[in-house]
Amino acid sequence: MFDLDQFIADCRAALAADKSHKLVRDVVARAVSDPTAVLKGLGEPTRSVFQPLHRSHDLTIANVIWAPKMTVVPHNHHMWAVIGIYTGREDNIFWRRVPGGREGKLEAAGAKALSVRDAEPLGRNIIHSVTNPIDRLTGAIHVYGGDFFDPAHRSEWDAETLLEQPWDPQRAVARFEDANATTTKS
Ligand SMILES: [Fe+2]
Repeated sequence: MFDLDQFIADCRAALAADKSHKLVRDVVARAVSDPTAVLKGLGEPTRSVFQPLHRSHDLTIANVIWAPKMTVVPHNHHMWAVIGIYTGREDNIFWRRVPGGREGKLEAAGAKALSVRDAEPLGRNIIHSVTNPIDRLTGAIHVYGGDFFDPAHRSEWDAETLLEQPWDPQRAVARFEDANATTTKS
């Protein structure tokens, strides 16, 4: 049984005990260890959306539904995160700035494939891009150690040039809505 209010309370208690992602990761791992319960608690995904479930200055919890084959461009968070998959798949590419490169140019640094029941912590300095590689919706609980919607000092990188530009929270959320238009099948 997944109870959203209890989950939020558990994340808040974990954060109060330890400011890192460590204990929050345990809470997320416990939740997605029973993906059927999360599906019942949050509802079966029907469309791509970035749905905030809790927002405060030190903690953001969101239900993130990726459209089939959807990709988001490289971006940073400037806060730790924990990604818990409860249905589908998510491929992460990790990036780093090219040493001495201009305009924040990136190069690929690694990758990680996430599957259902995975609860992956991301450090505060990570730069990543995310793809849902499968033909159906992917659902994940994202927990961030700060206010996800605060754009302060955050960047994203152009998908083609890999050059740095400011991150815009409205644009980031709109991409999930746009993905519905391009992937909806009649
Ligand atoms: Fe991200």
